[in-house]
Amino acid sequence: MTVRKILIAGNWKMNWGPGSVAEVDLVRRGADDLSGVELSIHPPAVFACKVAERLAGSAVRLGGQDCHWEPSGARTGDVSAGMWAEVGAAFVIVGHSERRADHGESNAVVAAKAASVQAVGLTPIVCVGETLAERQDGRTLEVIGRQLDESVPDSILNQPLVLAYEPVWAIGSGLTPTPQQIIDVHASMRAALAGRAADLGPGVRLLYGGSVKPSNAAELLALPEVNGALVGGASLKAADFLAIAAAAPM
Ligand code: 13P
Repeated sequence: MTVRKILIAGNWKMNWGPGSVAEVDLVRRGADDLSGVELSIHPPAVFACKVAERLAGSAVRLGGQDCHWEPSGARTGDVSAGMWAEVGAAFVIVGHSERRADHGESNAVVAAKAASVQAVGLTPIVCVGETLAERQDGRTLEVIGRQLDESVPDSILNQPLVLAYEPVWAIGSGLTPTPQQIIDVHASMRAALAGRAADLGPGVRLLYGGSVKPSNAAELLALPEVNGALVGGASLKAADFLAIAAAAPM
């Protein structure tokens, strides 16, 4: 049987404040009681070293929110996967819907980024998700299937990988899909992976993301084929982030 340790990843997005270091310290301390769950914090890139310092020696992982697909060079404003590796990150999120929307990232770009993350020995967290219009048109599974095919080619499936289903309309909105809607998408993702790489796909963790909070975490994390959560707003407060992690079935 494949054992997939639950991963609770905190995507801090473009948020940082005077209390942020203290929140990192609190997560670090709280994680001692949560050894059955893997935790990661994904701060804005400029604060990565600071967070890495605070997490040194703890089980809480550092993660990036994005990277360029090239290893180095004339790419103003970007950071590479190798740079994330150098500051001690374990994961890099790629293909978040905010990157896809704000920066016009295509599935091909996302695939290149994921490959660059794996090339330096880190694990990409590749995000997929439908818009509200796509869901209302009944195209959710088709959209997710295409994003998976094109953002996660077989070469990427052969190496450490996490996938995150984040419906665009559930991000930051307080709305979440019904349990059955999440079950349907995660089952279709698992089936797609199994169809392509029967021996490799089972190890891939499938996270759910979009308005995960302490009050809904237990229900969401108990759903079949939900192997963790990608948390935005509720990850900024250690107490909420830890409460979400504590709600995971262990
Ligand atoms: P919220 O948890 O704020 O809805 O954000 C989800 C998200 O986009 C995580 O990557």
